[in-house]
Order: sequence, then C-alpha cells, then structure tokens
Amino acid sequence: MADDNQRLIIFDTTLRDGEQSPGASMNLSEKLEIARALEELGVDVIEAGFPIASPGDFEAVQAVAQEVRAPIICGLARCNAADIDRAWEALKHAARPRIHVFLATSAIHREFKLHMAKDEIVRRAIEGVRRAKSYCDDVEFSPEDAARTELDFLAEVVEKAIEAGATTVNIPDTVGYAVPEQYAAAIRHLKQHVRNIDDAVISVHCHNDLGLAVANSLAALKEGARQVECTINGIGERAGNCALEEIVMAVKTRGDYFGITTPVHTKRLCPTSRLVSHVTGLQVQRNKAIVGQNAFAHEAGIHQDGMLKNRNTYEIMRPEDVGLPNTELVLGKHSGRHALKDRVRSLGYHLDEAQFERVFETFKVLADRKKTIYDADIEALAEAQVHDGPSLWTLESFHTSDGTGTLAMGAVCLAHVDGRKVQDAACGDGPVDAVFKTIERITGICVQLNDFHVRSVSSGEDAQGEARVEVEYNGRVQRGHAVSTDIIEASAQAFLQAINRLAFKQRHARLNPQTEAVTVS
Ligand code: KIV
Ligand code: ZN
Repeated sequence: MADDNQRLIIFDTTLRDGEQSPGASMNLSEKLEIARALEELGVDVIEAGFPIASPGDFEAVQAVAQEVRAPIICGLARCNAADIDRAWEALKHAARPRIHVFLATSAIHREFKLHMAKDEIVRRAIEGVRRAKSYCDDVEFSPEDAARTELDFLAEVVEKAIEAGATTVNIPDTVGYAVPEQYAAAIRHLKQHVRNIDDAVISVHCHNDLGLAVANSLAALKEGARQVECTINGIGERAGNCALEEIVMAVKTRGDYFGITTPVHTKRLCPTSRLVSHVTGLQVQRNKAIVGQNAFAHEAGIHQDGMLKNRNTYEIMRPEDVGLPNTELVLGKHSGRHALKDRVRSLGYHLDEAQFERVFETFKVLADRKKTIYDADIEALAEAQVHDGPSLWTLESFHTSDGTGTLAMGAVCLAHVDGRKVQDAACGDGPVDAVFKTIERITGICVQLNDFHVRSVSSGEDAQGEARVEVEYNGRVQRGHAVSTDIIEASAQAFLQAINRLAFKQRHARLNPQTEAVTVS
C-alpha cells in the first residue's frame, strides 16, 4: 500500500474547465459518457460542472452525481450562498460529494473585478467555506488567480480557509502566468508559512497560456502539492489546462524522480482521449505528447534501427501502456470476425453484439475499397456505432458534378425512417456545398455551417477521409462526424448526422415540450 503522502490525487475538470474551451460544449448524455470513461480511467475526483451557471450544468452535475459512484463528484461555486446552495442541491445524492468554492485574491481581481479590500475577501472566503461545510465534509477552496497574489496575503487566506473547514486548498494559476521555479516557490511559501497547512491537501490548477501548465504542476509536486487539476487532452479556457495524460505519464515514467504514485489505469488514456476529442470536436494535434497520433511513431532510419535492436534506445514509454494497441497485425478483407473483435476491444471499445455486427458489416465494405485497414480506420467504424444517435434520414446515394468554370451540382437521395425516399438537387459553391444544400432542401432544416474540415485518418493513397462539421440552428449547436474513402461522402454523412441530431431534438421537443423548456433555457 502506497504511503498516503506519496499518493497523487487526480482531479479531472474536463467537464467543467474543459467544457469552457471555445466550441467544446457538451450535452447531458455526452457528459455522462465522459464521466463514466473517467471513472473507468480511475481518476479520483470528477469536477462535473458549475451548477449555478445554467440549468444544463445543474442537470449534468446531478446526473453524474447520481450515476457515477466510485470517484468523488465535485461541483463548483463562487463564495456566495446561492451558488453553494445550488451546488449542494446538484450534489446531494453523490456517493462522495465535494463542494469547490472559489474567490479571487490577486490585487488586480480585488480592485477591478470584485471591488473588495483584503479583509472583505478573507471574510467572504471564510463564510463560503463554512456554508459549504454545513452541507458536506469534503470542501475545496480556491483563491482564484493565486499565482499573481501577494504571497503573504495568499498564505493568510489559505490559513483562514483551512481553519473554516477546507480539506483541500487549490492554488490556481488562472491566467497561465507562472513559471516553474516561481510557482514551486509559492507552494514552498505556503508550506512554511501556513500554520495549519498539513490539515489540508495542497492542489494545483495551472492554465497553459505559456505552455507551462504541466511543468508548473510537476514543479509544485516536488514541493509537496498532492492534487493536480487537469483535463483530458489539456482542453480548457484559452490555451487550456494541464493535460491529465501528460501528468500521469510523467509521474509514472519518472517515478524515480517524483516518488509519487497514481492508480490511474494508463491503458485507458488513449481511448479516453479519443472519446473526449470525438465528443467535443477538438482534435488532438498529431505530435501531442502521450495521445497524439505521432507520439510513438519513429520515422528516422537511425531511430528505427535502434528500436529494432532495443526498444529502450528511443522509447521511454511503451505505447501499449497508454492504450495504443500493438499495430503489427494488419487487418484486411480476409480478416475474420474474431480478429476484428479482438482489435476493436484492444482499441478500448465495448460494443454489444448488434453494434459489433454493424461494425463488421462496414468493415467488410471498407475492406473491399481499401487494401490495408489501420487502427484509425477501425476506430472510426467503432465510434460511428458508439456515438450515433437515432437517424431520421439516411443517405441512399449521391452524385456530384464539378469543374473549372462550371457551377457545382449535387443530387442526393435520402431515405426517411418512415420508408419514404426523397431525391433533390442543388447547385453550390463546390460539390460539398451543393450536397449540403440538397440535404437541407430535402430535410427542411437549413443550418448555419460554423465549422467544416476534412483530414486523413490513416496513411496511404486509399486512406479514409474524416469529415467533421459543426452547424447551428435556432441557437443550438450540433456536430457531426463521419469517415469514408470518399471525402464528399464523408462530408455528406457528417452533415447528415448533425441534421439528424437536430431533427431528433426537434421531434423530441414537440413530443415533450416541458423537458425541452428546461434543457434549452
Ligand atoms: O482557473 C481558475 O482559477 C479556475 C478556478 C475556478 C479554480 O478554474
Ligand atoms: Zn481554471
């Protein structure tokens, strides 16, 4: 059993700070899916949202608190009664609830945002922690913008918060301004000057504006911090937060240096990263440490030669330890059910029989079009099963024509779930635009296209193209995602998926007007 003092607490805030990434908002079922994946990953704390921020946030924290039982479930609140009461209302059925209260302490926030003097900040912090404590034992306090707060004042606030009952004190670098030595010195200062510091866990929460979030967090661990607040893929406000997968693997790989342990199941890192990327639509850069597509790819001949002689020459972590399966086994049109099932499972997908059968069918179709099937191809097929909701419309066929100096034209045939088949055609600014316009004409849902991109998911001339779209309709944002060896088909399927999701919600709203009123507001 690891010494408690050497045990790192992983506090995941993908659903709260991560969701604050521009364009990353998630709906309730997506948040629940991520929360379940985080539980499987083995994080200690899930910050599920900021309950007073919106009815949707409240509902998400409540649902996660009710359904996800192993980790601590945390809700964020400012230091005021209404926020704290609302947070507790959302958390009260959690197996292990935590209220996280925060109040800014830096001079710039005191003067320009809060218009409060130091003594008032201290008073409010104490009141906030006490109120949260009246509901639950587990209370975290964050002096927002701590990294730019005068050290003596920071020590005073932290001491008073612990005295009032805070069991964790979090030291946020809210604007990503700190550098490792200085941030470590701040933690050291608190260790030396806060009388009751050993009565609470010191937590760190670093933003990545200067690309230093992970480095700052690690520096703080060396000084005795034992909780790191982080997000999957490092998503979050502006340049994001400390990346969970990087912290975990740094601590595991350099156990010799940090002497700290974490029970996170590292083999779940890549599958969880893919899930978050898929749900939020925020792609992971190829060279991203740990979970990027190139993180374990050796291109240079000298490196490949060294790897063949001894993996340790150029590899400090094994890809299988972060959930990247062994890719030596290539699948193709002669591969059977068993091999595919095995590969799907090792990629981290738990499909039921019906889902697997659909993956197998699409795999066979793909294998006819494509000689070598890579993991990325299989992931794309599996994800389509896991994340596809009910479809009102399916793509039967499409045809496009285009050329220099001519107007692009798209003809599409869609099948409705009620058995109808509808065909139409439209002109557009390029074949993809023409197909999108035709789909809008057929479904009667005209959207604003916020984002659209296509990339290749694997390598080779016959690589599949992955299309992602984000559309907006009546203020509601919806995303779609699809893959195909034909990029116009992938684009059409992605667009149709977004339209289907909107159409499904519209239909649901008509049938359940009250539920919709709550979710929308
Ligand atoms: O960055 C920050 O300061 C925060 C706090 C609410 C902890 O996210
Ligand atoms: Zn933050």
